Amino acid sequence: MKVVVTGGAGFIGAHLTRALLARGCEVVVVDDLSSGVRSNLTGLPVKLVMGSVTDRELMEEACVGAGSIVHLAERPSVERSLLDPMATHHVNATGTLTVLDVAQRSETHAVIVSSSAVYGDRAAAADHGGGGGGGVVEACAETDPPRPNSPYAASKLAAEGYALGHRTSFGLPVLVARLFNVYGPYQSVRHAHAAVIPSFIDAALRGRPLTVHGDGRQTRDFTYVGAVAELLAEAACRRLTHPGPVNLALGTRTNLLSLVGHLEVVLGCRLDVEHSAPRAGDIRDSRASTAVMRSLFGGVEGQELRAGLAATAHWYRARLHESAGGAARATVIRR
Ligand SMILES: NC(=O)c1ccc[n+]([C@@H]2O[C@H](COP(=O)([O-])OP(=O)(O)OC[C@H]3O[C@@H](n4cnc5c(N)ncnc54)[C@H](O)[C@@H]3O)[C@@H](O)[C@H]2O)c1
Repeated sequence: MKVVVTGGAGFIGAHLTRALLARGCEVVVVDDLSSGVRSNLTGLPVKLVMGSVTDRELMEEACVGAGSIVHLAERPSVERSLLDPMATHHVNATGTLTVLDVAQRSETHAVIVSSSAVYGDRAAAADHGGGGGGGVVEACAETDPPRPNSPYAASKLAAEGYALGHRTSFGLPVLVARLFNVYGPYQSVRHAHAAVIPSFIDAALRGRPLTVHGDGRQTRDFTYVGAVAELLAEAACRRLTHPGPVNLALGTRTNLLSLVGHLEVVLGCRLDVEHSAPRAGDIRDSRASTAVMRSLFGGVEGQELRAGLAATAHWYRARLHESAGGAARATVIRR
């Protein structure tokens, strides 16, 4: 089966492409390389179509004969969306609508990848609703009302709405997957998402203090990328569809201070922490309810956090050595 992966040169795309190839699929990647890099696909037998998902003609051509499109491409980051909401809307909402339209006309299945950002800050909502605050925030269930609190989150919710609308209006076989905090090799440290695990590991390996925004007691449902890639590959190959969004995460809860503790064990050293102001649009607690996912996919095996962190740290350490070696070689050549 031919599968088109938009954003396939990015972090999750690099893993998904490998998972699809391992299942015997033909993979075509559409990526404008705005945050992804060609080297994430080095040595893989895939076709890379360079361009934007907002380019209808390019998408139509890439999708000829495809059995499924997994749509990962997006303009990332809450911060960037605060600076330029229209640009975020253009790629994330209009770009997704373009993908859906092409999928519908070419009778292709689609997986639209969304984000837990659509749930918004449930802790703040509970406080305002007289919940008393301080209590344990329930896991995010797909039936909970979305509360986007940034243009980024609103753009992802719009994308979900278009996808489910296409399912109802045109019978498009589509799955909307909400990812939580995914981590692992190939995640860029310089990414606009500025994800916490790569930032922490990078600082630790360079002997710098770890910057924690706020008090560090905010919690996340960290999911190792391997499980996410397998679930997305399975969704594409089985052409899975569902009438509502589906959380793809493991339902775990880890606060940032305990994440630092796990990293200390994995790296075998003490790590210094510096606290800075909380980030605008940040979410206090985020954890997935996994019942719908398990009903669709059965038993989902995740990576235990410390093992996932060890594999991730190993990858970053190798990259750091490579770039240090490269810099040293460059110095030698200059002399
Ligand atoms: N990484 C996470 O923790 C996380 C969490 C929740 C949701 N997600 C979702 O997963 C998807 C992939 O995220 P990622 O972490 O791999 O990000 P990423 O930035 O590494 O990958 C996105 C890819 O899309 C490409 N891209 C951007 N704009 C494009 C455009 N207009 N046309 C074509 N390609 C374009 C980028 O070059 C990049 O390769 C996103 O939709 C994101 O919302 C990720």
